[in-house]
Amino acid sequence: MRRTVNIGLLGLGTVGGGVVKLLEQNGRAIAQKLGRPLEIRRILVRDLNRSRAVKVPPELLTARAETILEDPDIHIIVEVMGGLEPAREYILKALRQGKSVVTANKDLLALYGKELFAAADAGGADLFFEASVGGGIPIVHSLKECLAGNRISRVMGIVNGTTNYILTKMSREEREFAEVLAEAQRLGYAEADPRSDIEGDDAARKMAILASIAFGTRVTYPEVYHEGIANLHPQDIKYAADLGYAIKLLGIAWDDGEAVEVRVHPALVPLTHPLASVGGAFNAIFVEGDAVGEAMFYGQGAGEMPTASAVVGDIMEAARNLIHGTRGRISCTCFTQKPIKPIEDIVTRYYLRMIVKDRPGVLAAIAGVFGERQVSLASVIQVGMVGEQAELVFITHLVRERNLREALEILEGLPVVNQIACVIRVEGGTAH
Ligand code: NAP
Ligand code: HSE
Repeated sequence: MRRTVNIGLLGLGTVGGGVVKLLEQNGRAIAQKLGRPLEIRRILVRDLNRSRAVKVPPELLTARAETILEDPDIHIIVEVMGGLEPAREYILKALRQGKSVVTANKDLLALYGKELFAAADAGGADLFFEASVGGGIPIVHSLKECLAGNRISRVMGIVNGTTNYILTKMSREEREFAEVLAEAQRLGYAEADPRSDIEGDDAARKMAILASIAFGTRVTYPEVYHEGIANLHPQDIKYAADLGYAIKLLGIAWDDGEAVEVRVHPALVPLTHPLASVGGAFNAIFVEGDAVGEAMFYGQGAGEMPTASAVVGDIMEAARNLIHGTRGRISCTCFTQKPIKPIEDIVTRYYLRMIVKDRPGVLAAIAGVFGERQVSLASVIQVGMVGEQAELVFITHLVRERNLREALEILEGLPVVNQIACVIRVEGGTAH
């Protein structure tokens, strides 16, 4: 076999450790598939003295990025350190020098994708990022290549493993939020700062990436409306289940031809819907294209080895392109710039829980406000009593979010309404 293809690994945490293990475990077969072996030449870490779950020869480790980025014998840079800086600086430097880059960094891509692709084009290098969305699920290449002939109208699914793990454990095992979050961190699913999982930022970044590829229009993370799961109450999970729904953190992207809608928030999903049964750290993503119809991608969305699977696949693709002199074939696929719909313009259904005075005429007063704002109710259930007050759950028909917000603002001012305790969108029905 001829020369090795040499890799500089930036980061040796959960994902970096997985990449080292996978290249060790399947190195022979990988070399046979490529016709050349892959070799990790250097590894950048922050702390040279930290004890590590994965054993590597100590001389491979460095805390100086230049020893990797400026080494002419390193052909592919694998960035699995995370965060915006210095990861952005290192990737730009590598690409401009013509070194191909594989990254799992959705934070960077969802904000600086355009700049990174321009650098890849300038350097004639590959920039691959399969692991940035869906962990081990091959969704990025599928959208960029296999489904490229379609006009994609919708991408919707569960794209954060940590929150899905938490919601699954809270609903199926009635466990506490904080305890399950700590478990997700131990299992390597959570981001270095888990607030980005919990508050929906991680999923918003992934939806920005998916929407950009699917619709050919650049969507950045700040443009994605997002809510997290921190304010969900266990009783809403229970009431939703009693009504025949699961609560999931959903990413939804829709292109109506004129504008795109991209949002992330908790949603009630009918228990009969395939997304309702996606449990633990699994992700599932529906894609709707004019030729393919509906396709669903399902698999482990986070964790050491599933993510390493995606990273190593990208390394092999970059190595093939290097070997065959075909680098830089697939760059940015955005070819247009469509407006992004404000959240107030979306049309969907809602689950609402209110604490109201338990007295005659209350329901009529509330229904009157909803009617005034064209919010039509599909069902109203009294789920319990809170002292002298009644706890009511409403499910609406399809309604424009602006109208719902106006109605809720008026309801908050009614003396009979003590609290609007919960508002969750209902998806997976006939929203569009
Ligand atoms: P991690 O466990 O926190 O590992 C980060 C690694 O990068 C550590 O080895 C750390 O060095 C090194 N590092 C960080 N900042 C550095 C700096 N400024 N200089 C030198 N080294 C630095 O993170 P991870 O979970 O592997 O995630 C890595 C990336 O993959 C992130 O972009 C994340 O969003 C993405 N991702 C993660 C998953 C997952 O399931 N975990 C899945 C998909 C994508 P020390 O070890 O010395 O601290
Ligand atoms: N923290 C992320 C998640 C890792 O839980 O989905 C995978 O991108």
